[in-house]
This record gives sequence, C-alpha cells and structure tokens, in this order.
Amino acid sequence: MSSFKCCCMNMNTSVYSLSPLSVSLPPSTSSSSSVRFAPLPRSSTRINSSLGGTMAEPKATSTAEPLLLNAVRGVDVERPPVWLMRQAGRYMKAVFLGFLVSYQIICEKYPSFRERSENVDLVVEISLQPWKVFKPDGVILFSDILTPLSGMNIPFDIVKGKGPVIFDPLHTAVDVDQVREFSPEESVPYVGEALKILRKEVDREAALLGFVGAPFTLASYVVEGGSSKHFSKIKRLAFSQPNILHALLQKFTTSMAKYIQYQADCGAQAVQIFDSWATELSPVDFEEFSLPYLKQIVDIVKQTHPNLPLILYASGSGGLLERLPLTGVDVVSLDWTVDMAEGRRRLGPNIAVQGNIDPGVLFGSKDFITNRIKDTVRKAGKVKHILNLGHGIVVGTPEENVAHFFEVAKGLRY
Ligand code: CP3
Repeated sequence: MSSFKCCCMNMNTSVYSLSPLSVSLPPSTSSSSSVRFAPLPRSSTRINSSLGGTMAEPKATSTAEPLLLNAVRGVDVERPPVWLMRQAGRYMKAVFLGFLVSYQIICEKYPSFRERSENVDLVVEISLQPWKVFKPDGVILFSDILTPLSGMNIPFDIVKGKGPVIFDPLHTAVDVDQVREFSPEESVPYVGEALKILRKEVDREAALLGFVGAPFTLASYVVEGGSSKHFSKIKRLAFSQPNILHALLQKFTTSMAKYIQYQADCGAQAVQIFDSWATELSPVDFEEFSLPYLKQIVDIVKQTHPNLPLILYASGSGGLLERLPLTGVDVVSLDWTVDMAEGRRRLGPNIAVQGNIDPGVLFGSKDFITNRIKDTVRKAGKVKHILNLGHGIVVGTPEENVAHFFEVAKGLRY
C-alpha cells in the first residue's frame, strides 16, 4: 500500500483568505442585491484557510495539463485530484472575500431551476461558486441530466420540494416516435456558451467537466414521470414491450453521444455519464437495457474524441462492478457501499477509479473526515484515482466540513 503525508507548500503570489464560512450575510449582500463575481486570480499557489493551516495548490503552468487529466491517464501525480459531485448546490451559503458566493441566495432571486440552469450568466456563476471557495481540481458545469429533454420534445420541469416532473410520461410506441433526436447546438446553445466561458475562467488550473444522463436513467424519468421508488412503470415496459423501451434507449444513446461530443467541442475536458438508476436492474437486465447503450455511447465518442476521458457513475453499483469497465469508459466512479481496495481489485488495474467517500462523512467531526480521506486514498493507491464522494453532497452539509475536506485532500502527498 502506498504511504502519503500531508504537506504544506509555501509558494508565492496571491493568497486567498477564506472568510468564515458560516457567517450571516452583511446587509450589502442581502437577497435583494445582485450577486457579484469574485475576481478569479489565475496563478494563486497558496490558500490560507480560516480553518487553520495552509493548503498547497497544484503546480499550474501555462503548459501543464490539469492534475485530474494526468491522474486519469496514469501520469505520476503528487496527490489525487479532488472534486465533489453536487459541489455547487443548496448547501452553499458562503461569503468569500466579501463576495457572496451563495447558491441559496441565487435560488431566492431566480426560483426556477430551469432558469438557473439555462441562463448562461447564471450557469457560469453557479459553476464557479465552489471553484472560487474551494479550488477543486474539477469544475463541473451547472446543469442537469434532464436539460436536453425539452429539445427532444419531452416537456419537463424541476419543481422545488418535488424534483423532476415529466408532463406527459411516455408509454407507447407512438409516444417514443414523437421523441426528437437531440441537436445540442440548436436546443441548448447556452450549455456550449457557458462551457466556453468556464474553460477560459478555469484555464489549466482545473479540469472542466461536462456530464450527461445515461439512456436507462433518462428513460426511467420519462417513463415514470419523475423520480420513482419501485421503477414499476419502466419495468412493466421493459418486461412486456421491450421493443418500445429499446427504441427509446436508442434515441437517448445517439442523442447523448452527440451531446458529449458537443460539450467536448465547447471545452469540456472530461465528461461524466450518470446512470444513477441502472442499479435498479438485475445484472441480466443491466446487460440488456443499459450496458450495450453505454458501450455504444463510448464507441461513438471515442471515434471523434479518443482522448476525452469518460467517467461512469451508477449509484449502488457493487453488484455490477465487473460489468462497468465493459462499457469502455476510462473511469468508474464508485459509491461508498464498495470498499475502495476491493473495488480496485474487482475493476482491474487498467481503469481509473473515482470516489468513494460516503457523503454522510461530511456530517462527521473534522478528525473523522481526515481519517476517512486518508483511508480511501491509501486504499486507492498512487495511480489513477480521483478523490470524490460516493454520491452528491447532501443538502444541509456544513460548509466548513466541505472546506476541511478540500483542505486535507489538497494537502496530501503520495
Ligand atoms: O454536480 C454538480 O454540482 C453539477 C450539477 C448537477 C445537478 N444535477 C444540479 C441539480 C448534476 C451533475 C446533476 C445530475 C443529476 N440530476 C442526476 C445524476 C446524479 C445523481 O444524483 O444521481 C440525477 C438523477 C438528476 C435528476 C435530478 N435533478 C433530481 C433527482 C433532482 C432533485 C434533487 C432534489 O434533491 O431536489 C434534480 C434537481 C437538481 N439538479 C438540483 C441540483 C443542484 C437540486 C434542485 C435545486 O438546486 O433547486
């Protein structure tokens, strides 16, 4: 097993001081005032944290590749790159350098999720919030896996307190016929514009991450009509009229492959495919309704973008683990129900691994968080590991614990 240590590098240039992270908002930054961007220093190399200690920044030069891309490719890195799923979101109410970087305040001003995720300025601003505060090694586009749906003729909304709502759930062959193939340039130009801006803002200091929903997971939303507990409607379709479901899955496959290519052309340097609900399928059904479509997406994308890392996430994937590399993805993102060392062994040495700390750990003490990070990094070994949670940050997670997570992770050295 590899050994590693915490390290504090003192380099030069600008220094961030993180303002206390759980402060009440000053009057000038009340919900009625506009939210400003904090300027983004490009070559900062040290963060002084109000939480004590200094965290080292990755060495970034104008020609260096982001740490995350090097790690995925198996290049020697000094520590694992780190970012967190749902790092932008409702847990964020921080004030940073006197600038408000609060998702919650943006939500008050723009209550519609669709507006927040379809307006270029808001998408850029929200995507950059965690980047300004925590300097993760990956900056993920603020969007949703459902964002392409309206461009595919499937009207939807994301309703506060309820989640995704599909207005006319699809059940019949005629319904599926009416689904349009996705044309990202026409339907979601704001995604491309936002990615281009984000790539300039983040420069080479972090990897810009795009994402899409996997065909089965998207199909589960549009057949169930929203989130589901038992997935009975999509299973009824799968197990009684599989051809209809296959036709729908094929449309999502071609569309999401095109969407990944579009995101890469606009600046995404790695793309994560979320098959969150594939694990509702038994392995034999995963092999029919998910795996071939994921593989097809990877094959199509690799033809045009052979060097674009593709990350696959499926929550609760322990029972499917050996099947996931068969898709051809470069990285498998593990959830926390799999021990990292066992996950590594089961996935084999050629594939990179992401994860896999329980998001609930961020509710623990600082020492507990530190120990769990070290345990995970030790078990993952020195190569091809991206440190992350096993699923998204949970609403209500203390921000100072998220700050602590990044501080410890970025101070590690193999
Ligand atoms: O990781 C990031 O910071 C990027 C943003 C992101 C969002 N959704 C924003 C969002 C990402 C990567 C997603 C992916 C997504 N969306 C998935 C796959 C990941 C997973 O969680 O398994 C799924 C299944 C969805 C569908 C979806 N969107 C649901 C179930 C919900 C409701 C969640 C809830 O708790 O209300 C959404 C809405 C959504 N998408 C939110 C965010 C931050 C919360 C609503 C809000 O902010 O108003």
